[in-house]
Amino acid sequence: MGLPLDGKEIILGVTGGIAAYKSCELVRGLRENGASVSVVMTRAACRFVSPLTFSALSGRDAETDIFASRGTMPHIDMTARADAFIIAPATANIIGKAASGIADDLLSTMLMAARCPTLFAPAMNCRMFDSPALRENLKKLRDRGVFFVGPEVGPMACGEFGPGRMSEPEDILRAAVSLFREKTLSGVRALVSAGPTYEDLDPVRFIGNRSTGRMGFAVAKEALSRGADVTLIYGPTALVPPSGVKAVAVRSAKEMAKAALEAFRDADLAIMAAAVSDFAPEKYSGSKIKKDGLQNYSLKLVKTPDILSAFGKDKKRWQAVVGFAAETDDIGPNALKKLKEKNADLIAANVIGEDTGFGGATNRLYIYDKKGLVTDTGLVSKDEAASRLLDAAAGLLRLKEIKSKGRPIK
Ligand code: C5P
Repeated sequence: MGLPLDGKEIILGVTGGIAAYKSCELVRGLRENGASVSVVMTRAACRFVSPLTFSALSGRDAETDIFASRGTMPHIDMTARADAFIIAPATANIIGKAASGIADDLLSTMLMAARCPTLFAPAMNCRMFDSPALRENLKKLRDRGVFFVGPEVGPMACGEFGPGRMSEPEDILRAAVSLFREKTLSGVRALVSAGPTYEDLDPVRFIGNRSTGRMGFAVAKEALSRGADVTLIYGPTALVPPSGVKAVAVRSAKEMAKAALEAFRDADLAIMAAAVSDFAPEKYSGSKIKKDGLQNYSLKLVKTPDILSAFGKDKKRWQAVVGFAAETDDIGPNALKKLKEKNADLIAANVIGEDTGFGGATNRLYIYDKKGLVTDTGLVSKDEAASRLLDAAAGLLRLKEIKSKGRPIK
C-alpha cells in the first residue's frame, strides 16, 4: 500500500515562534509519509532554529531570502509545484499578513502566490490568540478556505496557560493527510455532541463528570475532514473547537438538549459523544447554599432529557443516529440493550479504564449495530477511534439520497 502523502510536494513555512523546534519533527513525519518537503523560513524563525537543521531534515536547502534566489523566482516556481502549503508554527504576524495581503518577505509572498490548499498551525501567547485583531484575521482566512489545526490549550513557553500552544507534530501531520482525503461526506450534515454537562446547584457548585470532550472533538474534526458540514454542541471543556465547524457551547443537559434537538432537524447524521448528566438538581438556589446549622444535606435530583432517545424516536428515513456507552462491565449486552432501547443505529461502547474512556488521549471502541459487534478498534488514539467510528457510520448513510438532496431541507 502506498504512503498517504506519496508524490506530494509540500511547502513548510516556519515562522518565528519557540514551537519552530517542533516543526523539525513535522518535516520528518511528512517525509516518512511519502512527501517531498521544501522549508521556507522567516528571519525570526532562523533565530530559533538554524536553516541548516531544516536543510538536513528535508534534504533540500531551506529557503530564507527572496533575493538569494539562484536566477529563478522561488516564490513562483515553488508555489506552482506545491500540492499543499503548511505554516507551522504560524505566528500572529504571518496570520495578519496573510489575511491582509502583505507580501514583504519570501514566505508571505509565496503565501500570496500559492493556489494549493493551505494549512496553518497557529502558535502564540494566549492573550494574543484572544485579541480582536487575530480573531478577525482568522475569520478572514477561514472564509477564504484556509485550513487550521489547533492551537491547543496548555502551558506556554512564557509561563502562562491557555489556548495558543501549537498542535503536536503528529496532529499537524494528520491534518495535512486529511487535506488530501476524499471528501466522502460532502453534502452530509453531521451533528456531534461532546464534553460533560454541568448541572448547577447554586452560583458556586455544580454536578459534573470527568469527560474532557476529546472523543467528541475528534469525531467532529474527522467528519469535517471528510467534507461534512459539522455542528458541534459541546459542554464545558478546555478544548478549542476545530475551525470550520459550527460550534455551539452549552452548559447543562437541558441546554444541550435544546440545542441538539434544534440541530437534529437539519442533520443527516448525529453522533452523540457527550457525557450528558443523567440527573440534575430539582431546584436551583439563586444564593449560595449555607452549611450553618446543618449536619447533613440531601439533594433531590431529577432526570434530564435523554437526547439520544428523543432522536431515536424522531428520526427520519435518512437520519442515522450513533450513541456512546461508557461501561465498567458487561460491555456487549449493555451496548446492545442501549442500542435497542434508544433506537440508535450504532453504539460505540468503551470500557472505563486506565487507557480508555474519559480524559486520556487513547480509547478502544467496540462498535455495535443491531446485529452485534461490527468493529473493535483496539487501543488507539482518539483521532484514530473517531476515524474508525466514521467509517462505520458512513456505511449507514443513504448517501445517494442525501447528496441528491432527497431529504427535505428546512
Ligand atoms: O443512557 P446512557 O447515558 O448510558 O447513554 C449514553 C448515550 O446517550 C451517549 O451517546 C449520550 O451522549 C447519550 N445521552 C443523551 N442524553 C442523556 C444521557 C445520555 O443523549 N440525557
